[in-house]
Amino acid sequence: MNPLTEHLQFFRQFRQQFETTGAVAPSSRFLARAMTRSLANRQGPIRVLEVGPGTGAVTREIVRRLPQGAELDLVEINEEFARLLQKQFEEHPHYMQVADGARVHCLPLQEFKPGQPFDLIISGLPFNNFPPSLVEELIDHCLALLAPGGEMAFFEYMFVRPLRCRLSGAKTRERLSQIEAIMQARFERHRVKTDWVFVNVPPAWVQHLRVEERVNAAQTPSPHTTPTRATPTAGEPDQHPAE
Ligand SMILES: C[S@@+](CC[C@H](N)C(=O)[O-])C[C@H]1O[C@@H](n2cnc3c(N)ncnc32)[C@H](O)[C@@H]1O
Repeated sequence: MNPLTEHLQFFRQFRQQFETTGAVAPSSRFLARAMTRSLANRQGPIRVLEVGPGTGAVTREIVRRLPQGAELDLVEINEEFARLLQKQFEEHPHYMQVADGARVHCLPLQEFKPGQPFDLIISGLPFNNFPPSLVEELIDHCLALLAPGGEMAFFEYMFVRPLRCRLSGAKTRERLSQIEAIMQARFERHRVKTDWVFVNVPPAWVQHLRVEERVNAAQTPSPHTTPTRATPTAGEPDQHPAE
């Protein structure tokens, strides 16, 4: 897809579905590289999940770095984005090289219940747009989907939470401070690194989290909200054992 078409497609979805799209433009290639940095250290038939791939700004970098024999699942809530991505795997030469091990799922992450854990999860979800209970559900769902030694990378626009906290009304301030507390609890337990990416609109941090063993939602204390228990799909392991 040429860059102008990609930006127009993205902006159209931003106008139509502001809350879930969460940005006016796709991520820069510098941000995409920072998000996919830990792929460089991984070999063999690993399992990778990309959440919220949008028009594929980060997917392009994943596809380029994916080791041979790896599997790639992409979970995208927006039908238009999912359709565009599916087309890329059918038509674009780089995507076609990994298409046999790739699957595009058009559904919200909270409903995605795979049978196997992942070695790496790369998320583009706009957490600051969501209610705290959903942020907690989504981030803990990702952590619970990681295999021991697995890593999750996601970006946050730099200083946006503290700035919006200062400039917004009481309701938004309360929502963002709850999100901050949810994030801090996960950072204390799992964060291994933060990358600063200035060449992006706006500049962003990439947070890299790691789990040493399988995690369930109840393991991270909830400062403000009650963890949501995901309903397991029949025949698949419960990712959120008893709270
Ligand atoms: C900020 S955009 C990031 C797009 C792309 N990864 C990038 O960096 O340019 C957020 C993406 O997350 C998707 N999204 C939002 N909520 C979601 C959910 N609950 N499950 C799956 N995808 C979701 C949106 O449709 C959108 O594609």
